[in-house]
Amino acid sequence: SPSDPDLVERARAAKEKLGDKVFVLGHHYQRDEVIQFADVTGDSFKLARDAAARPEAEYIVFCGVHFMAESADILTSDDQKVVLPDLAAGCSMADMATAEQVAECWDVLTEAGIAEQVVPVSYMNSSADIKAFTGKHGGTICTSSNAEKALQWAFEQGEKVLFLPDQHLGRNTAVRDMGLSLEDCVLYNPHKPNGGLTAEQLRDAKMILWRGHCSVHGRFSLESVEDVRARIPGVNVLVHPECRHEVVAAADYVGSTEYIIKALEAAPAGSKWAIGTELNLVRRLANRFAPEGKEIVFLDKTVCFCSTMNRIDLPHLVWTLESLAEGKLVNRIEVDKETEAFAKLALERMLALP
Ligand code: 13P
Ligand code: SF4
Repeated sequence: SPSDPDLVERARAAKEKLGDKVFVLGHHYQRDEVIQFADVTGDSFKLARDAAARPEAEYIVFCGVHFMAESADILTSDDQKVVLPDLAAGCSMADMATAEQVAECWDVLTEAGIAEQVVPVSYMNSSADIKAFTGKHGGTICTSSNAEKALQWAFEQGEKVLFLPDQHLGRNTAVRDMGLSLEDCVLYNPHKPNGGLTAEQLRDAKMILWRGHCSVHGRFSLESVEDVRARIPGVNVLVHPECRHEVVAAADYVGSTEYIIKALEAAPAGSKWAIGTELNLVRRLANRFAPEGKEIVFLDKTVCFCSTMNRIDLPHLVWTLESLAEGKLVNRIEVDKETEAFAKLALERMLALP
């Protein structure tokens, strides 16, 4: 939908007044009305790196969700302020693993006698507390663009991996990229005593998957893939690795948001694509590549935005930029020092992956 011209002008003016003091990051799932003001756009990995590479910016305005802003705060210096235009922009997947639940899980692994062999690998989509747990126990963070490298690294450090909180990214990477079998993976349910697993199951497993998922990507099904193949002969199915295993197994290509964009940039004219990821991005790509004769459709029949990503809209961005331009710091995301130290260790292990 076209942006309100008055708000566009206000955002532009406030951003101009702030000049180099502000740096605006935009995740690919953000609305067009917000993306137009991003100094850089990217997937979670690229944005984490770009945030860390802007030491001159006093304010980092993160147009994305809470865990991304926390990660940016961890990776930037103490006098840089990270701002999230709407504090209610969380991530339901990240909320599926709390610090208490993960500490309890570690006790279960300890009682089963395997904690020493386990290396935690946590998806970027997790709270700073979970990242700190990961750093403390010798593990690393990963994103959807480096999950394979992170697992390779982890299996060099220990015999087993505890992957949290996205069971799908964990399972898909283990089976597709690491050559593990589905039987090597067990599902730890934080709502059941002992995760719903016996000590023997834990001892036999190579991958212990946390029972979390993304509700947006969870909506794509094998049926969506079969339908689109029947409807559009010759279509290439390209999905995000947060999709369920059977969807990923039936797809032609799998990758992060940045990978999806690169794949479509490289696609020949006349090719047809069905994309299984968030709708703001798919629509933007469909519009961008239509003039080049690339047909891009959404993998599912129902509309599927990430509702928390969508909370960041132009009115919130205008309010944020105008407040900062008036010298009023709003919606700062600040991770406490102790959490930050351990979380940073885990994030730096990720940034050092080959
Ligand atoms: P990317 O790292 O692919 O941008 O994914 C982030 C995310 O939240 C996907 O749901
Ligand atoms: Fe979280 Fe899913 Fe939204 Fe990504 S798309 S921010 S994983 S709820």
